[in-house]
Amino acid sequence: MEPVLRNGVALVEEITSWLRLPAEELDARVIGEEAHRVLLDVAALNAAAAAGDQEAFRLQQLLLARIYDLFMKIPDEPTAEGSVVVNGVLTALERATIAAEDAAVDWAVVDAAPTTPAEYLSWLKQSARGHRVFKHPYYMKFIRNHATAAHLRKYVIQESVVDGRFDDLLALMQVGTAGPAKMEIANNFWDEMGNGRPDEVHTTLFNQLYDVFDITPQELEDSLTATALLSGNLAVLLCRYRRFYPEAVGFLGMTEWLVPDRFVQVVGAWERLGLPEVGIVYHRLHITVDSQHAAGWFHNIVSPSAGSAYMRRGIARGTLWRLNSSARYLDERLAEVADLITAGT
Ligand SMILES: [Fe+2]
Ligand SMILES: [Fe+2]
Repeated sequence: MEPVLRNGVALVEEITSWLRLPAEELDARVIGEEAHRVLLDVAALNAAAAAGDQEAFRLQQLLLARIYDLFMKIPDEPTAEGSVVVNGVLTALERATIAAEDAAVDWAVVDAAPTTPAEYLSWLKQSARGHRVFKHPYYMKFIRNHATAAHLRKYVIQESVVDGRFDDLLALMQVGTAGPAKMEIANNFWDEMGNGRPDEVHTTLFNQLYDVFDITPQELEDSLTATALLSGNLAVLLCRYRRFYPEAVGFLGMTEWLVPDRFVQVVGAWERLGLPEVGIVYHRLHITVDSQHAAGWFHNIVSPSAGSAYMRRGIARGTLWRLNSSARYLDERLAEVADLITAGT
């Protein structure tokens, strides 16, 4: 029998309150029946999300994001990082998230991918060009022609989960790499660090947008939608674990590759609206830098590893996760503003 979700909000708030307890204290308190009950409730939340319950999906991704914060932020007090019960919840949330993304992958297409590196690489790019996320109307129509300053403010908030910590994602995914792959990630990371110039660090440049729009950290978390939370969670999931290294290569590589075309539209909107120049430095820079990053990534990481069937399958999986999740995210953004766009504009 499928577990029944009783109160998803209460469940997420209960587990969130645990994250601020020392792991040993939490595990001494939540044991036996109590720990079992929580895992059943999380299973019910996951089942509801899998069945299409959008609020359950948002709560699932919100809880996952909060648990990932244990690994992505340095705290100023003890946390539940390393707790047995939190790890149990985390694993359940991750498995449900993985299953949902895999369900959207056309495995017959993945299995038919070319096996020589050059052909495999052009197949990857063709898969992206043929995907509905490529030249998505949210960027090509809405951002370009219609977005107001208030829309761009909202856009920045939703983008914060990836752009706001790209350096840490690179740092996580490079563990265990060697040779040209490690060198490529290091080069990319050094660009993220502004090539040693503190005021040119990419996250610093991105954070200038928070100042322009007066966005607070609390507002960031409060405003994140389900698919924005998912984008951030997928990036952490794939970069954090060594078994997902091939997927991280595909996911981050495709993220870089899609950027220039999209940011041209954001810069265009910024200029159309006459917004302060300091706020658009990040996007302007990445039109050039990310096309170089994508080229370097494909040449130095994807191609050398494409001789391995294991790597090819994982890179394709991560690429498709990125394309599919980005498409759902942009569909969600576009639906919010659909009344502002008339057909053909
Ligand atoms: Fe960057
Ligand atoms: Fe980049």
